[in-house]
Amino acid sequence: MKILVTGGVGYIGSHTCCELLANNYEVVIIDNLSNSSIDVVAKIEKITGKKVTFYEGDVCKKEILSKIFKQEKIDAVIHFAGYKAVGESVEKPLMYYRNNIDSTLSLLEVMKEYNCKKIVFSSSATVYGNPETLPITEDFPLHTTNPYGTTKLMIEQILADLYKADNNWSIAILRYFNPIGAHKSGIIGENPNGIPNNLMPYIVKVATKELKELNIFGNDYNTKDGTGIRDYIHVIDLAQGHIKAIEKITKEKGIDTYNLGTGNGYSVLDLVNTFKMVNHVDIPYKIVERRKGDIAICYASTKKAEKLLNWTAKLTLEDMCRDSYNYAIKNRKDK
Ligand code: NAD
Ligand code: UFG
Repeated sequence: MKILVTGGVGYIGSHTCCELLANNYEVVIIDNLSNSSIDVVAKIEKITGKKVTFYEGDVCKKEILSKIFKQEKIDAVIHFAGYKAVGESVEKPLMYYRNNIDSTLSLLEVMKEYNCKKIVFSSSATVYGNPETLPITEDFPLHTTNPYGTTKLMIEQILADLYKADNNWSIAILRYFNPIGAHKSGIIGENPNGIPNNLMPYIVKVATKELKELNIFGNDYNTKDGTGIRDYIHVIDLAQGHIKAIEKITKEKGIDTYNLGTGNGYSVLDLVNTFKMVNHVDIPYKIVERRKGDIAICYASTKKAEKLLNWTAKLTLEDMCRDSYNYAIKNRKDK
């Protein structure tokens, strides 16, 4: 089976391409490299010992998509391409709506034209807003607080309407919780430009002494140690969830939504302490004001993915901390 992976050079996409290749799928990538580096294509091939077909281009542009669908016999699509920074989306909403919505519409139109009606879409736990109870199940009310989250919600709605109009589609919407970690080889991982917004990449830069100390955004939440709690999931577990989703949409028509998390909540201090213990490094930190828009606790119910996708996350917080650091160290040495 041949899978088109949009945004396949990015963080989650590259790990998913490795898992696809390891499971004997053929992989075609389209990425405009707006948030990734071309080297990753060769790294995917190095890890797997298999070839991928890479097209550099913008998923918003139907011409290149048509060219791909004409040249390759694509059986299904995993759609990762999009912008993902919450803060930036508040400052540049039009850029986010244009890229995330436009790319999805162009992709779906071309898929329809070539009668390829199987898609896995990357959504986010951000669509649950601030949940009233925990753990979060897929039927919770949806509410967004920033343009990035709203693009995800709008795309989920577009997919639901598309299926309503044509029951020949097979659609899996995956709502990711907090992906961290890296491939165990240390060859690919998360490598944000500049000062990271997210916790794990920031901790890693403190560990490698590129940043002086971690700012912990508040220790007065109603949690066990006052710091925010999240459901961190290893990117390899997440990637394997995509394989299960592809298996599901290949077998059955329909549309369904699945949380991809571990079901465990860990605090900021849990992550800091585990990182220190596993990697034998110091992570100096200071407590600062809460970050605007942050919620106290967020973790998934994973029952639906377990039951319907036959998928469950296996790797631990220790694995996530070890692999993130290993990637950073290896990457620095390679430079
Ligand atoms: P990423 O930025 O590393 O990867 C996205 C890739 O898409 C990049 O390689 C980028 O160059 C490419 N891209 C963006 N716009 C494009 C376009 N118009 N045409 C072609 N390529 C384009 O992000 P990621 O962390 O791998 O996230 C992948 C997907 O998962 C995104 O849709 C993101 O919103 C979603 N998601 C991520 C997280 C997270 O914490 N990383 C959480 C929930 C959901
Ligand atoms: N945090 C700090 N210091 C930092 C960065 C984060 O204390 O420098 C704290 C936050 O306050 C929060 C926790 O660490 O309590 C996790 O923060 P992240 O920024 O790593 O992750 P978020 O849960 O805020 O957001 C992430 C993605 C969003 C996505 C959301 C739900 O960035 O895109 O998960 O999936 F929408």
